[in-house]
Amino acid sequence: MNFVVEPSALKSGTASIPGDKSISHRALMLAAIAEGQTRISGFLSGSDCLATLAALRQLGVHIERPSANEVVVDGSGLAGLQAPTAVLDMGNSGTAMRLFAGLLSGQAFSSELAGDRSLSGRPMNRIIKPLSIMGAHLRSAEGFPPLIIDGQNLHGIVYAMPVASAQVKSAILLAGLYADGEVVIVGQQVTRDHTERMMRAMGIVINSGESQIIMQGGQSLTACDVKVPADLSSAAFVILATLLSADAEVDIKDVGVNPTRTGVIDILRDMGADIGVQNVRMFGEEPVADLTVRASKLHGIDVDPARVSLAIDEFPLLFIAAACATGKTRFSGIAELRVKESDRIAVMAEGLRALSVAVDETEDGAVVHGGQLYGGNVDSHGDHRVAMSFAVAATVAKWAVHIGDTDSVDTSFPDFIGCLRSLGVNIVSEEQARDEEA
Ligand code: S3P
Repeated sequence: MNFVVEPSALKSGTASIPGDKSISHRALMLAAIAEGQTRISGFLSGSDCLATLAALRQLGVHIERPSANEVVVDGSGLAGLQAPTAVLDMGNSGTAMRLFAGLLSGQAFSSELAGDRSLSGRPMNRIIKPLSIMGAHLRSAEGFPPLIIDGQNLHGIVYAMPVASAQVKSAILLAGLYADGEVVIVGQQVTRDHTERMMRAMGIVINSGESQIIMQGGQSLTACDVKVPADLSSAAFVILATLLSADAEVDIKDVGVNPTRTGVIDILRDMGADIGVQNVRMFGEEPVADLTVRASKLHGIDVDPARVSLAIDEFPLLFIAAACATGKTRFSGIAELRVKESDRIAVMAEGLRALSVAVDETEDGAVVHGGQLYGGNVDSHGDHRVAMSFAVAATVAKWAVHIGDTDSVDTSFPDFIGCLRSLGVNIVSEEQARDEEA
């Protein structure tokens, strides 16, 4: 599928944003090994989380879906998973693959994890190394998927994280549930802490501070209902579209505002954005709020590298904010973007240049020169966040923008087109555009 987006006048209104991807994965996995039944509401029914759901069914977990966004999981307990009879397909999801690697390392059976072309190019040594220290046996294609995991008895670990990664941290914690001894993780940068919060909600004693997490292995989980907040990473596309508009004001309800995720709000505010955060409350262990976003004039800034891990998935969109701001915006300390669903620094630079924006790329960042966006063709390289970022850019471009290879949007925001259209954005799939012309 390809998107065609025409310059659009955004309307004021309320946007409906799907559930948080990270929390939906964790709710499924932790519910699967908990004692008792978990009802998950607000679940993200996107292809990444559905890959996790299908894999858990292959591991013998009984899961029902009363509706698209509701899932009921009968927990199998820590020792209740069964050997799969086929390869577990993680699709496009790095989170699913890395978290499952942790979960499956301590099982009494072997399993194999594989993924699509993009996932097959993503580094796995970052989890293989700590899990191996814990006693796990993992084989890979020289550090890349597929992963073959021969379940073992695991032991504790004291691990200093070489990269800021919530996926690595979570893989270690999931393996830690099966370990004898203590798990201690030390990291310099704060990363999203949904795993720690949900484990705590399910009765695990886990001690987490700014730079250290300590958990005793062998603890079991007790099922509890999970209400998934709207995903701030998906809301971010509507936030920027509103900021760039002439005069729109858009409300977004029940958005996750966990402080390990809100870097995008802080960075956009530094650029001049008017984003109101009201009615902060808790969905279980996760803070949520209602946002009110108003059209704003953005200006270039030097983005603080200390904020990178708190906005790690929003940099494609922040490149667009920078392109539409006055002056220069400097990004540094974002080398991790090169090993996401695509090389997001290179792919964003290429796409922005195609729309006539000047970008100077560096090894671990870029300088984006704000200015007028023209029209043209952009290749998303099968990266959902790149595709959606350019759709937002197109609303303020001079001419139409064609965005290629956009099927991946279904991984995190299945009704992205419907959501933008409800706010007056003239976006269609190329197939739809052809039908409308015929
Ligand atoms: C995620 C962690 C981040 C993020 C990804 C989701 C998670 O990855 O980019 O989209 O759910 O744990 P890293 O752990 O590689 O930074």
